[in-house]
Amino acid sequence: MAITNSKEKEEDKRLDITLRPQSFSEYVGQEKAKRNLGILIEAAKKRKEPIEHILLYGPAGLGKTTLSYIIAKEMGVSVKVTSGPAIERVGDLGSILTNLQDGDVLFIDEIHRLNKVVEEVLYPAMEDYKLDIIVGKGPSARTLQLDLPKFTLIGATTRLGSISNPLRNRFGITHRLTFYTNEEIKKIIERSSQILNIDIDEDGSLELAACSRQTPRVSNRLLKRARDFAQVNDHDLINKKIAREALGMLEVDELGLEPTDRHIMETIIEKFKGGPVGVQTIAAATSEEVQTIEDVYEPYLIQLGFLARTPKGRVATENAFKHLGYDFPEERQEKLM
Ligand SMILES: Nc1ncnc2c1ncn2[C@@H]1O[C@H](COP(=O)(O)OP(=O)(O)O)[C@@H](O)[C@H]1O
Ligand SMILES: [Mg+2]
Repeated sequence: MAITNSKEKEEDKRLDITLRPQSFSEYVGQEKAKRNLGILIEAAKKRKEPIEHILLYGPAGLGKTTLSYIIAKEMGVSVKVTSGPAIERVGDLGSILTNLQDGDVLFIDEIHRLNKVVEEVLYPAMEDYKLDIIVGKGPSARTLQLDLPKFTLIGATTRLGSISNPLRNRFGITHRLTFYTNEEIKKIIERSSQILNIDIDEDGSLELAACSRQTPRVSNRLLKRARDFAQVNDHDLINKKIAREALGMLEVDELGLEPTDRHIMETIIEKFKGGPVGVQTIAAATSEEVQTIEDVYEPYLIQLGFLARTPKGRVATENAFKHLGYDFPEERQEKLM
């Protein structure tokens, strides 16, 4: 899988745990979310109540899991971590819920992938802290209602649009995590390099930051790869030159685009005259999966202003044509006006 693919990979897990900020003060950026959540937590603590259910959404690697742990920590409660696909049966959810303590946080990652039956059991649990269970089978079956501890559900998703309305409406707060500025990513790289004992100078950090897709997970991964590259080449310090060389070897360009991004954009431009073209067609033409294109590549291409989503399909913008070295056809200019 590509280096800049911001989805969590097996090799990330250890790195993520080592580098994961433990408090709001260590958590760089996302000022609005931090401010609002901070107020919420303080108020809940004063009232000695659990906080409302929180839904966090945004592209992979922006810090949803990290933020959830911090919320629990600031509340001084335990967190139980699971994910949509991991809760296969109603019984799985039941045992998770009944094992929580008052105030605990239940973190459900990829909550858009919960199955429908499980999701429906979650509604009364979220709303009234009640668990309906069916005992027995056939005509003698009856419903039993259990009281649950007053927990807080934090759901995380990369796809807000895939969450049903009834589920969405049961969250008191919904926060979108946004892409980071290069300045913020630079701070994250500096923090990580201290923790990992990596020598990197200011320009080196800036160079890596500019290529990190505005995503902390990518920046940490690039830092680690740059360190490996420096070591292999007998350099003690990652400066701008070493950073650039390492990025070049990884085929990451100065905007953080990697071969797959370029392949996707070139396909739209060359095969489909810049679009509009449906994502299915792009997937078939590039041998990538639709979901990978939508979750991994598109968010940053859209953020860069290279790709636009229109009702008729994806369109390559003038900036994309130029960055990839194509002339922007005049007739397109008119068409877009
Ligand atoms: N705001 C932040 N400040 C510093 N590091 C961050 C921040 N957000 C994320 N990270 C780093 O990026 C890694 C991935 O974040 P994570 O919370 O797992 O993302 P997500 O759950 O959105 O995919 C974390 O382990 C952490 O090291
Ligand atoms: Mg996560």
